[in-house]
Amino acid sequence: MRLNAYLSRAGVASRRKADELIKAGRVTVNGRPGELNTFVAAADRVEVDGRPVAKQPLAYLLLHKPVGVVTTAHDPGGRPTVVDLVPRDPRVVPVGRLDADTTGALLLTNDGDLAHRLAHPRYEVAKVYVADVEGEPSDESIRRLSDGIDLEDGRTAPARARRIGPSRIELTLHEGRKHQVKRMCEAVGHPVRRLHRRAYAGLTLGGLQPGQWRELAAAEVDGLRAAVARTATRTRSARRG
Ligand code: URA
Repeated sequence: MRLNAYLSRAGVASRRKADELIKAGRVTVNGRPGELNTFVAAADRVEVDGRPVAKQPLAYLLLHKPVGVVTTAHDPGGRPTVVDLVPRDPRVVPVGRLDADTTGALLLTNDGDLAHRLAHPRYEVAKVYVADVEGEPSDESIRRLSDGIDLEDGRTAPARARRIGPSRIELTLHEGRKHQVKRMCEAVGHPVRRLHRRAYAGLTLGGLQPGQWRELAAAEVDGLRAAVARTATRTRSARRG
């Protein structure tokens, strides 16, 4: 992660203040002066005014995001945010985004490398949504959702779509475009009334109630790491072709 983000996650200063410290030459990385564009990895030694910055323990939390809470670290409009619902120390940030009116599984972590990979479309992690929609989708609508829909930002990738109630659809996506589920359902004539994410990269909420969170088990964190490593290997070999 960038040096300013590293310093802010370690609780040294806000990102803006961290930039000032860096510009003033008060921050070193492995003994060399840090620059605004310096990237820091887990093994790097960062010092401010010659004093080592304590490494933060890595934290991985799964939140059952409730309605009305925004997926950001700070909302200029003063609305409650997902980080208000989890412990402040160590500071974690959401991976990807759910709309304010969407509920469900949201991962928060301070593991910048894993967060970056999970949020990147290339790594294709599965997101399972349950959408309550207007009207009763036909087999044809379900087929269109799974084959791909032409949206203004391009055609959606093939997805798994199935009807699990007269007006309820389960959609498994490997993309994460803005308002994607709502736009897809709207495009087949069934606007979403309520949207819930049932699973994220294989992580499910279990008995968590809206607003509750849990720490991931070590095996779950290993599973996430393996998922992005596996996908990276597959993508590389597919490219080699
Ligand atoms: N798709 C949406 O439309 N909204 C979300 O919050 C997530 C996926």
